[in-house]
Amino acid sequence: MKASELKASGKDIISLGMGEPDFDTPENIKNAAIEAIKKGDTKYTAVDGTAALKKAIINKFKRENNLEYKASEICVSTGAKQVIYNALMASLNLGDEVIIPAPYWVSYPDMVLLAGGTPVIVESSEKNNFKISPKALEEKITPKTKWIIFNSPSNPTGACYSADDIKGLTEVLLRHPQVHIMADDIYEHLIFDDLKFATIAEIEPKLKERTLVVNGVSKAYAMTGWRIGYGAGPEKLIKAMSMIQSQSTSSPSSISQAASVEALNGVQDYIKTNAKLFQSRRDMVVEMLNKIDGINCNVPNGAFYVFPSCRGLFGKKTPSGKVIENDNDFAAYLLEAALVAVVPGVAFGAPDFFRISYAASEEFLRNAMNRIAEACAKCS
Ligand SMILES: Cc1ncc(COP(=O)(O)O)c(C=O)c1O
Repeated sequence: MKASELKASGKDIISLGMGEPDFDTPENIKNAAIEAIKKGDTKYTAVDGTAALKKAIINKFKRENNLEYKASEICVSTGAKQVIYNALMASLNLGDEVIIPAPYWVSYPDMVLLAGGTPVIVESSEKNNFKISPKALEEKITPKTKWIIFNSPSNPTGACYSADDIKGLTEVLLRHPQVHIMADDIYEHLIFDDLKFATIAEIEPKLKERTLVVNGVSKAYAMTGWRIGYGAGPEKLIKAMSMIQSQSTSSPSSISQAASVEALNGVQDYIKTNAKLFQSRRDMVVEMLNKIDGINCNVPNGAFYVFPSCRGLFGKKTPSGKVIENDNDFAAYLLEAALVAVVPGVAFGAPDFFRISYAASEEFLRNAMNRIAEACAKCS
């Protein structure tokens, strides 16, 4: 908000807070939407999604994740965000616990609270590339644990769990049948360094019957504004989620659903091209950040975020004499002195860090990193 205010007052603010690809939606997808409008596909659809989109989603799961679903096991919603919200609203009773690995996407704990549940945070460490260990997970499981929300590649850290990492976690989950798994795979296609994407139900088929896979078209197809996400899981849960949706927003946009059919069924080659481009931006940003005294940045394998620590600057004085005591102070200083907006780590349950989104051009990012470097060099 502060960044927007400064921008509105004419300041040349560089915002690194964006959570969406900077590319335009591909032309074939836009054309499918225009076609849908012309054809009169402009009415309510089935609450849980059109037959054509469900078919495209079923084929996507078969093709990319080796997972088989029936149409009754799929619910299409207004973004992956609504899928998660519906699932929590449909399933949580007062006091049910939901395990959330930190750093986490900001919406998870608040959604759990809105649904009457209790968020239970599992910490991870920078040393372990922000991945939780099977032991840390098991220590937080109680008879009241209803869900674990698992997000890989992760927002905000970009951390990716390999098939082996996931296997370790599934061994724990198999021992606790009361725990359901929400696998938020929204960044599935933004994965680098030849790492292969893996999702829990694929790695451990025995867990499929208690897993809700959450995905959507927002990030992979540069369609954040179209608002289409989908969930795949046990029929009973999907039915309850659809019921909640029927009394809140009804069906997602008919036009966006038609566009999403084309996204999932049409050419897919640009997805790999985009991932390569993101990888080269990541390399540049990480390299520039690690040259700055006081900042330490891991190399994440996915999404379009880096999550560096600013701990090395704590205790230092800014040119105006203010001592940087935490990540909030650091982000405020960058905004004032460098005119660069980043998100403080505390928002994601990880003070001492900050999030940078590199969904922007190389020139824009280089400029931003130079400004951050200059501002940090002025602290003593
Ligand atoms: C981890 C994570 N899950 C879900 C979403 C929601 O995606 P959608 O745009 O499909 O609602 C986001 C969006 O930023 C996200 O970062």
